[in-house]
Amino acid sequence: MDKILGDKIHGIAEKFPALNQTVNGRRLVYLDSAATSMRPRAVLDAIDAFYARDAANPHRGLYDMAQRATEAYEGARAATAKFIGADTDETVFTRNATEALNIIAYSFAPLVLQNGGSIVIPILEHHSNLVPWQVAAKKYGATLRYLYIDRATGEIPDAELKKIDADTKIVAFAHVSNVLGNMLPVNKLVAAAKAVRAVTVLDAAQSIPHFGLDLRALDVDFAAFSGHKMYAPMGIGVLYGKKKLLDSMPPFLYGGDMIEDVREQDTDFLPPPSRFEAGTQNAGGAVGLAAAIEFIESIGYDAIATHEAALIRRLVAGLNALPDVTVIGSTDENEPRFGAVSFNINGVHPHDAATILNDYGVAIRAGKHCAHPLLKYLDVEFNACCRASLDVYSTNADVDALLDAIPAVRKQLKL
Ligand code: ALA
Repeated sequence: MDKILGDKIHGIAEKFPALNQTVNGRRLVYLDSAATSMRPRAVLDAIDAFYARDAANPHRGLYDMAQRATEAYEGARAATAKFIGADTDETVFTRNATEALNIIAYSFAPLVLQNGGSIVIPILEHHSNLVPWQVAAKKYGATLRYLYIDRATGEIPDAELKKIDADTKIVAFAHVSNVLGNMLPVNKLVAAAKAVRAVTVLDAAQSIPHFGLDLRALDVDFAAFSGHKMYAPMGIGVLYGKKKLLDSMPPFLYGGDMIEDVREQDTDFLPPPSRFEAGTQNAGGAVGLAAAIEFIESIGYDAIATHEAALIRRLVAGLNALPDVTVIGSTDENEPRFGAVSFNINGVHPHDAATILNDYGVAIRAGKHCAHPLLKYLDVEFNACCRASLDVYSTNADVDALLDAIPAVRKQLKL
């Protein structure tokens, strides 16, 4: 291992208390990081310190503790905005990526779909970037069009991009597929959308743990991600929107801390981001997110990417080498993938595979991965698959534990 990389990554799993446990008498091999990452001690400590010392209600009090709570919450917003190349008034805290995407579908979509039109999304979208568009399309008389991928590579053929046409108002896409782990061609999608003046929505939930998000450079109009997939707690996420778009949108929820003035019959709302943060917010989660960002920055995305790419190569090569295993999407071990690799053990339902792998201490996700249309389109056995996914704390030993346990699955099922 490269010396600098080695110093930063070596032994990093020890900083994650949840990884230090046994399952069925074996070491936990956590390979479900695309579902949620584990949290380092530094993140847990930051949340604990906030609740132990500063946790008054932000924005509401004039006393010292309330000022500290406001500073912690707004400080977390400033750190998050800087991290993604946005301004603070473009950075809205939400519960998760799903809520952020719903805000766009509920508050922004009606502004551009008054006369129908089309919403375009790749077939590989997670339900959080699919169902809200299905509902919006039905509600506003729009059409939902899919960009179909090449099943063998996971890529979107250029010809599919022609579906983004003069009728298109919104183009929404994942940065990285939660099933295939491949990166989508953001630049091409943004260019195609811009050519027809459609608005772009980026779901960065599966990319932000693995590589940096520079929203200015990507030039998407909206973006969403969750803290819990990037070493932060559950229940905190981010909606990014270009200022002029957020300014044009009505609130999604109404209540305290998002108003300028309330009279008996009407209300003036605060500008974004407060307009979209009604009620007491998850300030502890925001503090945890800021600590997670600090954690990522202390390692650096370059080191994270180098480490994870080597693990992914080892995993894909190992799966390819096993008889009776089918890797889903590209089988090329050198093809860039971020975090996740899906596969099937031939003749074994993925739920059975995951249950037996748990006997060996190996935690993977199995099923349809909140991407039913993709799994149907891929036409894989059982319309479902196993997914192994990793983060910076994952190791060669984790990958090898999965590869070693897979033959036992078929054996146990007497196949
Ligand atoms: N979106 C998460 C996943 O892909 C839960 O597993």
